[in-house]
Amino acid sequence: MMIRKAFLTICSAGVLLSVQAQTPKVYTIQADKIKTPIQKTMYGIFFEDINQAADGGVYAELIKNRSFEFNMPLMGWDEQKKDGGDGRLEVINRATERPENAHFIKAYVTSETGSFGLENEGFRGGTGIKEGETYSFSVMARQNDGNVKLNIELHGDNDAIIGKAELSPTDKEWNRYSVKFSSSATAKKAKVFVWLSGKGVIDLDMISMFPEHTWKNRPGGLRADLVQKLADIKPGFLRFPGGCIVEGRELNTRYQWKKSIGDIDKRTNIINRWNTEFAHRPAPDYYQTFGLGFMEYFMTAEDIGASPLPILNCGMACEFNTSEMVPLDKLDPYLQDALDLIEFANGDASTQWGKLRTDLGHPAPFNLKMIGVGNEQWGPQYIDRWKIFTKAIKAKYPDVKIVSALGPFPKGPEFDLLNKTFRSLGADILDEHYYASPKWFRDNARRYDNYDRKGPKIFAGEYAAQSVQTGSPLNKNNWECALAEAAFMTGLERNADVVNMASYAPLFAHVDGWQWTPDLIWFDNLKSYGTPSYYVQQLFSLNKGTDVVPLTLNNESVAGQEGCFATASLDKNTNELIIKFVNTGATAQPVSFKINGGAYQKKANVITLHSDRGDTENSLENPKTISPVESTMAVNGKLVNTTIEAYTVQVIRLKNK
Ligand code: AHR
Repeated sequence: MMIRKAFLTICSAGVLLSVQAQTPKVYTIQADKIKTPIQKTMYGIFFEDINQAADGGVYAELIKNRSFEFNMPLMGWDEQKKDGGDGRLEVINRATERPENAHFIKAYVTSETGSFGLENEGFRGGTGIKEGETYSFSVMARQNDGNVKLNIELHGDNDAIIGKAELSPTDKEWNRYSVKFSSSATAKKAKVFVWLSGKGVIDLDMISMFPEHTWKNRPGGLRADLVQKLADIKPGFLRFPGGCIVEGRELNTRYQWKKSIGDIDKRTNIINRWNTEFAHRPAPDYYQTFGLGFMEYFMTAEDIGASPLPILNCGMACEFNTSEMVPLDKLDPYLQDALDLIEFANGDASTQWGKLRTDLGHPAPFNLKMIGVGNEQWGPQYIDRWKIFTKAIKAKYPDVKIVSALGPFPKGPEFDLLNKTFRSLGADILDEHYYASPKWFRDNARRYDNYDRKGPKIFAGEYAAQSVQTGSPLNKNNWECALAEAAFMTGLERNADVVNMASYAPLFAHVDGWQWTPDLIWFDNLKSYGTPSYYVQQLFSLNKGTDVVPLTLNNESVAGQEGCFATASLDKNTNELIIKFVNTGATAQPVSFKINGGAYQKKANVITLHSDRGDTENSLENPKTISPVESTMAVNGKLVNTTIEAYTVQVIRLKNK
């Protein structure tokens, strides 16, 4: 009966008839023998502002260079005149008074009639506007002379006006003015015009526009569709803010969390380090406004039920770039940033930084349990700084776990030195990164089988299969890569006693504004889609269970035999046995799972990710070409007989009676 079913499956897919003759392999699952618990943190999210992930991405601000702080203060803005209007714009620098937001615009409107003003180009050639959405436009303004009014216009396709509003600033001192209005049409690349009418002189700064419907409808918040995609993974942790962005190309442009909290007009903008990193994808207009700052990261982590994992600069700029280092005796401000961050996250209102968090509207602690010291650092210079950081953090916060980098590569002399040293120094968690070919991922499913069970825990902190090679703009988020990642992830899960955390990287990419590919989630100004890798991450996270149990073929774990990879776990919360099976091969596999322990209901739930071709991708137009398909299967006592098609990831959930 089972063989016949396999035959039909294969025939209807038009693939390999030879399967008809294959006898199923018998896999043994010891559901009565717990191997190791799986940590709640097991599958998480890596966030970095690369590929327009923050500004122009998840941070829902629609105006580019709202505070005129780009190196060219009018970048993103265009002076405009219509109907005989006239005037001029001056860029004023008040650095002595406001070093963190030095520039503003002084607009001279010199004609009584017509309009003179500014156009903002938005991100990547326009602003995403949705029909029926309410937009909140705001500006800091100061009337100098006369009575200049602001007329805001949204121009959609064919230059049609699809939304407008008016503001009349009255004060001679700086004040914030805002207005809400709705749009009558959708446009992916709308233009925003700020017309100035009435003769006079007005000062303008922080020209901003947000949709009202952000994530949790927070004013000035995050793009709901993108955060929802993160929430849908139910991630165990959220690593932020990167990545190399933590380090900066030079120390000056490192991420400084204290400058990313509080009033947005006091958060110093800096150039994004990814703007010129790749000659093939220059983005000179890529800046960090820090509108998405540490408070927002912590709150997002809390919203989506993820443990926060901030990674901090350890006194070293990116070693691929300037490699600048802070002298060992000058590390204090960097150390203080780390200690203060822990207090900011966990301290109560009687502490300086806990009070600030409370004042920012979050009296409850963020429950920070781990912190990263450095991103992809390497060499003795890192070890020297790591020791100083570790001593200071552990002295004050012995329970906070420290995540230590093992460099950018998963092997080699840099890796070996750090691995050996940190192990000998009793490090808590080691952060391994692997960007490699799909073959590497398939071949390394046993990577952790022989790791020291008593040593530091492993954080697979950044990984993604590269269809061409790391750094190539031709890399695709295709099914072959996602399948290989799934194969590798069975190895992470089988070794959950050692591997406590894992995250794919990078997370987000704007289809018109990326620097690095592949990425987990792609978006344009209006829409987004999950790649096949996204659905693999989601499948593993939603079906991780609570405890690993042995799944073997001929007494061996399943990690590559005929292209198959598998793991099994119990979910003690739902009383289920969960089998994950990855068939990376071109041949369908008739399988028989013989289960020891448990008594199962006759129907199991099945979730499948599949494509006949390794080069299949999802896209904005076809976002679900590869996405989970749910079905059920009959269970015969403690035997599950089925066929796992070629190029398939399948989860089978068996409910105990
Ligand atoms: O994920 C992109 C980059 O890859 C990260 O910023 C860095 O840590 C790694 O080299």
